[in-house]
Amino acid sequence: MGTPFSLGTFVGNFDDMATSVLCVAPWSIGSLAMSLTPVSSAIQVQTGPAGRAVAQPMEAALLEGLLQHLTMERQASAAYFAMAIWFAERELRGFAHFFKGESVDEQEHAAQFADYLIARGQSVALEALVAPRQAWSSPEEIFSASFQMEADVTASLQQLYAMAERSGDVRTTTFLDPLVDGQVSSENRFAHLLGRVRFAQNQPAALLIIDGELSEGKHGPGSLS
Ligand SMILES: [Fe+2]
Repeated sequence: MGTPFSLGTFVGNFDDMATSVLCVAPWSIGSLAMSLTPVSSAIQVQTGPAGRAVAQPMEAALLEGLLQHLTMERQASAAYFAMAIWFAERELRGFAHFFKGESVDEQEHAAQFADYLIARGQSVALEALVAPRQAWSSPEEIFSASFQMEADVTASLQQLYAMAERSGDVRTTTFLDPLVDGQVSSENRFAHLLGRVRFAQNQPAALLIIDGELSEGKHGPGSLS
């Protein structure tokens, strides 16, 4: 009896394999069937709630945490969109443009989590969002809230990272690595802008200078390297 997939001299693709099977001499058909059957029935692929193949099951608490974080990213996107509207209503188009971009970025982060959960064979259940805050007293207040929101998102990623490590889920820690890196950059960007807005002390002329910088895409802190 031949070993699985050792169909004589067959080394080609599946189309070639079909041809090879048709060309097998009649007296070898029985042997061929016995070689293939055990292989196809022995592999039991585990599937997830969406019916997709699952390589490694995900711990229930970690799955719940990832879904909650996905909601957090969508909520952040809604918050930044509301801030963009606040600035647009006050003729500060650079600030509005900046926050619109942040809103898109957060939506993209949510999409990355959805992609990852699907890749892991999980089903992505979307939760209802809370209406974002739209009443603010000053740009400084908005940037303070934004910085805190970024810090909260980073804390959530850290919790997920610890959960993934505890459950030996290396796939998830690897997925989270670049996201944590991105959060450090976001915190740095918002700390910088919060500092500049504080310098402005709510003076229109100073705020218009920052607004012009943001219109040109200048929102990063100074670099010494
Ligand atoms: Fe994010």
